[in-house]
Amino acid sequence: MEPVELAAGALRLRSWSADDADDVLAAMQDPLLRRWNAIPATTREDAVAFLRRRADWSAGDHASWAVVDAGTGGLLGSVSLHSIDRAQAGAAVGYWTVPAARGRGVAPRAVDAVCRWAFRELAVDRVELCHAVENAASGRVAEKAGFLFEGRLRRSYRYGDGVKHDELLWARLSDDPPPAAG
Ligand SMILES: CC(C)(COP(=O)(O)OP(=O)(O)OC[C@H]1O[C@@H](n2cnc3c(N)ncnc32)[C@H](O)[C@@H]1OP(=O)(O)O)[C@@H](O)C(=O)NCCC(=O)NCCS
Repeated sequence: MEPVELAAGALRLRSWSADDADDVLAAMQDPLLRRWNAIPATTREDAVAFLRRRADWSAGDHASWAVVDAGTGGLLGSVSLHSIDRAQAGAAVGYWTVPAARGRGVAPRAVDAVCRWAFRELAVDRVELCHAVENAASGRVAEKAGFLFEGRLRRSYRYGDGVKHDELLWARLSDDPPPAAG
């Protein structure tokens, strides 16, 4: 797969580049992001390595975007479709936003845009979303991006605090009603 750019109102989803290293490194200092996304980027080299992986879609198993303000180009967050499985027509979605961009619906709009693209362009039928039970803000993203709650996965994932947390599983199917604002 080759990277593609997506437009979502005031948001632009573009591919990552090495030029994003300083912004990503700054974002990674946020304790919430370190806990719930567990991206091991503590040095600039870590950030560059992260960006290199995210910018390379050639394996076909992920599609990853920087979410930026369409007007200013400033970095607002990240959204990634991963575990893409063409045979099963499935994928999963992950995301974060920089602290200054939170509370404005950036993550739900970015997740919605990525789901629509996956349904349309990859013939994906089911996108899964998981978050730690304690991460209520992420559950709100799921709800606002049109996902339906499916259940609780017990001690299913080790997060950045080193602890295996129960997770809540949500999914959006290609024929589920899209979110109202989408
Ligand atoms: C979870 C996260 C992605 C939400 O992104 P967002 O762009 O702020 O999404 P929204 O604006 O829709 O806000 C979602 C919820 O975050 C909470 N929230 C609102 N303002 C906030 C702020 N300034 N700071 C933190 N959380 C806030 C609210 O509970 C909100 O729900 P509401 O709409 O019912 O009020 C973001 O808080 C984040 O990056 N957190 C740390 C990393 C993380 O949890 N990643 C997801 C792993 S599964």
